[in-house]
Amino acid sequence: MSAAPNDQWWNAFARLTSGLQVPMPVDPALVPKRKLHTGALMPAIGLGTFGSDRVSAESVAQAVSGGLDVGYRHFDCASVYGNEDRIGQVLEGFPREQLWITSKLWNDKHSKEDVVPSCEQSLSDLRMDYLDMYLVHWPYPNFHPPGCDVSSRSPNARPYVHSEFMETWREMERLVDLGLVRHIGTSNTTIPKLELLLRDARIPPAVNEMELHPHFQQLELFNYVRSRGIEPIGFCPIGSPTRPDRDRTPEDTVDIEDPILVSIARDHGVHPAVVCVKWAVQRGQTPIPFSDRRNEYESNLEAVVTDPLTEDEMQAIAGTDKNDRLIKGHVFLWKQDQAWEDLWDINGVIEGGG
Ligand SMILES: NC(=O)c1ccc[n+]([C@@H]2O[C@H](COP(=O)([O-])OP(=O)(O)OC[C@H]3O[C@@H](n4cnc5c(N)ncnc54)[C@H](OP(=O)(O)O)[C@@H]3O)[C@@H](O)[C@H]2O)c1
Repeated sequence: MSAAPNDQWWNAFARLTSGLQVPMPVDPALVPKRKLHTGALMPAIGLGTFGSDRVSAESVAQAVSGGLDVGYRHFDCASVYGNEDRIGQVLEGFPREQLWITSKLWNDKHSKEDVVPSCEQSLSDLRMDYLDMYLVHWPYPNFHPPGCDVSSRSPNARPYVHSEFMETWREMERLVDLGLVRHIGTSNTTIPKLELLLRDARIPPAVNEMELHPHFQQLELFNYVRSRGIEPIGFCPIGSPTRPDRDRTPEDTVDIEDPILVSIARDHGVHPAVVCVKWAVQRGQTPIPFSDRRNEYESNLEAVVTDPLTEDEMQAIAGTDKNDRLIKGHVFLWKQDQAWEDLWDINGVIEGGG
């Protein structure tokens, strides 16, 4: 559903006026924390660092620098974002124990011999000697070049094969043993795959990073991971309005134009993006919104320490779910003419593999 003209006007007005506010850093101690299975405390909001192929590495690094200034301490990085080296230059010298840094293993590095060197490369780029969190970015080893079209397929693509994934996971566990990584986790991983992993892992995943925004709430997976002591990290928390064209389909809806979100935003005097962030943290996930605009990333951080949503507002947003997955993952498909739904085990069984 698209916003009415008045709603679009509100969004533009809220974006403009948030830019006029005097920056007031948020005390990192006031930011809510999530307790992980090790007892470690992870800030319940992080700054994303994927520039969606349109924001340069330099601009993302500047956002990280500005993010530190306004009070972010949690940064969601990945080798495939192609900017860890620039981000490392910004983070270098900042007290390490005050930071929460996540990075991710890309799909062409799942082989046993590639996992440790790939993590070491991220550590070297980020200028640090350990990561707080290291994720397997996707449970598929299917390589595609960054920025490629949705029709791109790896010639060696294959479905999820649990025994192969466990070889990767054993190396992830070794990273913990080596002291290079404090926690390991999954991303884009479904309940059937997590069931197998929890059965076989020596070190269980501390988090599952998954797409989560009002129009895509993934209630079953959200409840599942929380019941197993796995914290849900929510990517695209605002509905990724500036995602790459390859991740857009005509059926997609726009969270920040949802009339309920716009109405709540108006009541709080903020942009609907800020309502998405408030909702996420109050619901119990850890959103990692991205912006390279200081007023936006600052409003997103302030959102979690001021003016909470009411119970009625939380319930109203719960009712906006449209099961609208935006990041469908076409490029990970292993056969031609296959539906993207096959990647997500929607019938409760692992499609094509296991
Ligand atoms: N694990 C995975 O597979 C995976 C996949 C995707 C993303 N991620 C992570 O999740 C992060 C966030 O995802 P995302 O960037 O795609 O989506 P997002 O955070 O939902 O949306 C980001 C966009 O929302 C707008 N925005 C942000 N704050 C705003 C505010 N206060 N007011 C108005 N507009 C605001 C900005 O657009 P404008 O520039 O137009 O203002 C920004 O570019 C990524 O950076 C990455 O770290 C992980």
